[in-house]
Amino acid sequence: MSVTRFFHPVLRASELQRRPVQVRLDGERYVLWRDASGEAAALVDRCPHRAAPLSAGHVRADGRLACGYHGWSFDRRGQGGSPTQPSLTRCDAAAMQVVERYGALWLAAADVPAERMPSLERPGFEAAGVFVEHFMCPLHVALDNFSEDEHTPWVHTRLGWTQADVGSVAYAASNYDDRTEVRYRAVQRPSALSRFFGVRPGDHFHNAWVTRFDPVRSEYLIHWTDPSGEVMRPAQLFAPIFMVPQEAGSTLFVVFVLAKLDNPWLWRMRHLVGRGAMMMIQREIRDDAVFIRNVADTPFSMEGMRLGKFDKPLIHNHRLLEKLYWGESFAERAARGASRLPVDRTRAEAGSTEA
Ligand code: FES
Ligand SMILES: [Fe+2]
Repeated sequence: MSVTRFFHPVLRASELQRRPVQVRLDGERYVLWRDASGEAAALVDRCPHRAAPLSAGHVRADGRLACGYHGWSFDRRGQGGSPTQPSLTRCDAAAMQVVERYGALWLAAADVPAERMPSLERPGFEAAGVFVEHFMCPLHVALDNFSEDEHTPWVHTRLGWTQADVGSVAYAASNYDDRTEVRYRAVQRPSALSRFFGVRPGDHFHNAWVTRFDPVRSEYLIHWTDPSGEVMRPAQLFAPIFMVPQEAGSTLFVVFVLAKLDNPWLWRMRHLVGRGAMMMIQREIRDDAVFIRNVADTPFSMEGMRLGKFDKPLIHNHRLLEKLYWGESFAERAARGASRLPVDRTRAEAGSTEA
């Protein structure tokens, strides 16, 4: 089953302007461009003539995407034609569906119903922005990282607790047929950025998230309270973190940040606070991206690993990844080469030609 049966955010909307842009999703390449009305369009990035990447072409004044090799051009439905042989039929490229929402471009197969678009609305929360981060690792390794906060004191430096407080972390996790829910609570480490959100020394950091698979994302809800847990601090952050597989060894993170500010002073400063929230979450996620290179070759199977209580969601998430997202097991994907790096695949194909 193709993962294009789900809408994936593949590019920040502001990055698509006059030139076509190539994006990658689960081993396939797509080209995005804006037609004459400025609306985004997408095709499989392979010219039906002789397979040149259409992303190496240009957008004509009439909004059609022209191949850079022999000038065939296409409309948003993929209907194509050859300028040198106008009578040639069956010149169409495979069209995809693209939706511009929440500051991103979302890609899906042409027949996917619009109601499958994930909703990022949350009452009282306002969008602060969207950023992307590249994780040089397979999807399951990225997902494992975002399935636990046990690594917080070692990998991170701003949000969450220090090594001295690991003994007092409160933790709960629940598995469901369609999602995993996880909660952590611990003393917020001293951090200039968290003071910015009305957090006081000794306050508790709370992170509660839901991991879903249509497509793969962890939706983080972060807030702070006083040490009793009774008094909420005024800022809450909501960060839906989409993990978009590009190739077997690379995962694009598309992260949306929303903020809820229950304090008139913070509210007046909301643009500044929103920028601060974006910066803080982006730095935290970059910490994960930097460390992840060290574990990029972690196998999908957890056999032989000495797992602890914080790893419980990882096991369930692997099951849901297979059942709900891939629609097949990791072993089945591996058997058809979907989990191999492109260089391995090239070698395998070359090998089969020789045979
Ligand atoms: S390969 Fe695209 S026009 Fe020839
Ligand atoms: Fe992390």
